[in-house]
Formats: sequence, C-alpha cells, structure tokens
Amino acid sequence: RPRVLSGIQPTADSFHLGNYLGAVRNWVAMQETHDAYYCVVDLHAITMGHDPAALRQRTRVSAAQLLALGLDPERCTLFVQSHVPEHAQLGWVLSCITGFGEAGRMVQFKDKSAKAADTTTVGLFTYPILQAADILLYQADQVPVGEDQRQHLELTRDLAQRYNTRFGRTFTVPSPYIVKDTAKITDLQDPTSKMSKSASSPNGIIELLEDSARSAKKIKSAVTDTGREILYDEENKPGVSNLLTIYAALTMRTIDELLEQYEGRGYGDLKKDLAEIVVDFVKPIQERTRAYLEDPEHLDKVLAIGAEKARAVASVTLAQAYQNIGFLSPA
Ligand code: TYM
Repeated sequence: RPRVLSGIQPTADSFHLGNYLGAVRNWVAMQETHDAYYCVVDLHAITMGHDPAALRQRTRVSAAQLLALGLDPERCTLFVQSHVPEHAQLGWVLSCITGFGEAGRMVQFKDKSAKAADTTTVGLFTYPILQAADILLYQADQVPVGEDQRQHLELTRDLAQRYNTRFGRTFTVPSPYIVKDTAKITDLQDPTSKMSKSASSPNGIIELLEDSARSAKKIKSAVTDTGREILYDEENKPGVSNLLTIYAALTMRTIDELLEQYEGRGYGDLKKDLAEIVVDFVKPIQERTRAYLEDPEHLDKVLAIGAEKARAVASVTLAQAYQNIGFLSPA
C-alpha cells in the first residue's frame, strides 16, 4: 500500500469547511487505500504566539473532530506531532540543508510575516522545514492538502532530493495530492481569497463546530455576484461558483447537475438550499465531536496508541537519516 501523511494545525476552536473539503475529506477516503498517517501539528501551532491552555484544549478538540469526520484509528494512524520527538529532530537536520533564501521565498511566510513584522519568529520562518520533516519521516508517497500548501510540498520534494543526492538514498520523494475541485474553498464575504482561520472575517468562514443556525445565516448572506443567473464562472462569478463548489462537494453531485436544477432560479433559492445542506452536514459531526470530548481518557488513549505506531516508523527513518549524514551511532 502506498503511504500517505498529512497534518492540520490546532490553531482555532474549530476546523472550517475549507479544511474539511480541501483536505480532511480526502484523508478519510485515503485510509481505505493507503497506509495512512495523520497528525495534529501542535509544534507548528506555536509559531505565531498562543495560549498554552487553549493549545492543549484545541489539540484535543482537533483530534476529536478528525475522528468525528471519519478518521478511524483502526484504519489509520492518528497522532499528535509533539508526541513524536523525531519531527523536531529531523526538522533540525533539514534546516541545515535549506538555503536561507530558499526558505525566504515561501509565500505563506512572506504574507504572515508582512502582517506581523514585529512579532515574526524564527519558528515561523522554519515552519515549512518542519513540515518537510513531518512528511519525510514517514516516507510518504502522497500528501493530501489544499492548494495553499503546494509550495511547501515543492520545498519538501527539493529537500528530499537534495538529501538523497548528497548523503545517499534516505527519503521517498512525495507528491502533493490536491483535488482540484475543492482545493481552494473561498471566503464567503471575499470570494477571491481562500477561507482561512487567520485571515477570514467571522462571516466569511463556516466553522464546523459553530452554532449551525449561524452557519445557515452566513451562507444566506454570502457575497454573490452581479447578475442573477446561476452560472459556474470562477473569474466573473467567484461567489456563486464557491457556493456551487461547496454544494456539489457536500452532496456528491456534479456542478452540471446543479446548474440544471437551478436553471431559471435565483441566488436566494440556491443559498437557502445550501444553508440546509450545511446544517445537516455539521449537526452529526458536532454530536460525535462532543461525544469524543466527553471521554478525554479514551481520546488520549487513541492518541497514545497513534503516537506509538507513528514513532515505530519515524524512528527508523531518523536513524537512517542520522547514519547517512555522518552522525556517530551511540554505542
Ligand atoms: P492548515 O492547518 O492551515 O490546514 C489544514 C488543511 O486544510 C487545507 N485548507 C484548505 N483547503 C481548501 N480550501 C481552503 N480554504 C483551505 N484552507 C485550508 C490546507 O491546505 C491543509 O491541507 N502547513 C499545514 C499543516 C501541516 C502539514 C504537514 C500538511 C504541517 N505539517 C505535513 C501536510 C503535511 C497547514 O498549515 O495546514
């Protein structure tokens, strides 16, 4: 079975619809076909300033949501990044083969550091290198992510190839797995930007755990476009196109079917129906998340087993990487 690894940050009280449709939905599907490793990346979550108690809680809530969304610990390895020390260890080694300029070209770093120049940390700068370590430790063949991670995946591939060339074959060179249709869910209020935990306004983002009446309201007040016809046109009708994308993804229907169904009808009809679909989608997820959170001991046990399985793989890769780079093995 091919290997897959992906990660998600516990930086908000809830995942949003973009996280689910762009990434986690594919994680769930890939547990059936791949040897799958998924992690809640808490090391990445401290790069922008954070509250310790909130981080601990959000890490648990993240794991609970992933289980509620369909990850099955019998079918995949679900773990918390900081439970596997090899991530930080390989991150250091990879940082020593990454060019300063190369890291400085990462657009997410440039965007985030430009917005908060005074508080930008070295950790934010080396963030993509740690991400590369996450992936390479598991010899992942594929990495299911949204479009915004494409450049980080390119860096990961470059680092893997460089290491292999300089020190001998060590890492699998991974490919991004980006499903085009849902790779960039956009902000409901600003439909040319992506839906984002950090950048979207509260009304632009559907949080899976928020009150579903609130989600319905947000869908109904989503920015649509001039004109009245329901058409899929990302250039000229990004708002309506985004709603169609979400609708199609949540109902497993094609955009063409939806266009036929809504021919001659208005934006109001589309939004009203989509609001209902979103509410029906999030309700059971909220219930299941709550159930997992009611039994934190069980949840922590699942994560402990996941960490043990993850470490078994990560430690072998790290030992090989250490060996190849010339570290003396401890006697
Ligand atoms: P994060 O936590 O920001 O997002 C988790 C996943 O959700 C995807 N995503 C979206 N997809 C479609 N439309 C959107 N609006 C949208 N917003 C977010 C992201 O692309 C991502 O797949 N750096 C990563 C976390 C990470 C990681 C890794 C990923 C750390 N190590 C190793 C893969 C492999 C991040 O910040 O994702």
